[in-house]
Amino acid sequence: MTASDALSLALGMPKAELHVHIEGTLEPELAFALARRNGIALPYADEAALKAAYAFDSLQSFLDLYYACADVLRTREDFRDLMLAYLERAAADGVIHAEIFFDPQTHTARGIPFATVLDGLDDGLAEGARRWGISGRLILCFLRHLSEDECLATLAEAELHLARIHGFGLDSSERGHPPSKFARLFARCRELGKPVVAHAGEEGPPEYITEALDLLGARRIDHGVRAVDDPAVLDRLVRDRIPLTVCPLSNTRLCVFQDMREHSLPRLLAAGAKVMLNSDDPAYFGGYLNANIRAVHEAFHFDTDTWYRLARNSFEASFASDAEKAAWIARLDTYFAAAR
Ligand code: HPA
Ligand code: ZN
Repeated sequence: MTASDALSLALGMPKAELHVHIEGTLEPELAFALARRNGIALPYADEAALKAAYAFDSLQSFLDLYYACADVLRTREDFRDLMLAYLERAAADGVIHAEIFFDPQTHTARGIPFATVLDGLDDGLAEGARRWGISGRLILCFLRHLSEDECLATLAEAELHLARIHGFGLDSSERGHPPSKFARLFARCRELGKPVVAHAGEEGPPEYITEALDLLGARRIDHGVRAVDDPAVLDRLVRDRIPLTVCPLSNTRLCVFQDMREHSLPRLLAAGAKVMLNSDDPAYFGGYLNANIRAVHEAFHFDTDTWYRLARNSFEASFASDAEKAAWIARLDTYFAAAR
């Protein structure tokens, strides 16, 4: 089988997405439609002008635009439409399960009630399950550029809605905001019986990965691609089978790696790390999960076994039940058995 046959298999294979920010799926077309619906002016003349601003040189340069665009999200219906638009694209890429980040503080800070955000996203998840049979769960991410006390106040609000929140995460500006800043917050999340994840080792150093594991109790590391800079950290991730939710297009668009061929993904795979591919903020970084697969294929020409491994890891690393995981992996095995 050639690498391009392997690519076709990878594009069609069933998979889970474990690292996608719902606010990062806001396409320019939807942003302008919501701006019109809500009578808001975006600071860009049109969709082309907005897209022209997608030239990032760091995580912060992206986050500034990402938070500004989120201002068009105002009503329960807006959040529903955003979720549905993502699920439609994800399903078209073979995603059968998604664990989706949302950033409530981006919205509550603008006066949007927490329940409006959650109700709308949940409406979208229910409709997406009906339309495309895709399963989705929500992971609440705290914004690490804010104080721990502000995050604790958000957690207190979240506690009123725990049945609809499947886990907790940590995102936003990494440098200067180490996991250690949030030890009390995540201790409380764990007390609530929810799994914890954290962005670490994207722009920040490998020590932030260690902090996320030791001080926050993170069960997956989001990005973690800089683990290769510290062999002891990488050894530990491999030994403890800690999944890394790798986002290749994000990493090249935000200049974590200057070129896809420099990405640490092959080194992580060779070391035996439990990695899978994800789209992070697909509206901003050049595409959804299959666009990431295409970009990785062009750089590395992975074989069929490697694509299988990535998809299998995506299911194994999810926070779904053992029965759900077994059913998805059986589906993956059937797909590969038929194609080989
Ligand atoms: N890193 C940190 N915070 C984020 C990201 C990211 O890649 N995307 C959205 N918020
Ligand atoms: Zn992310």
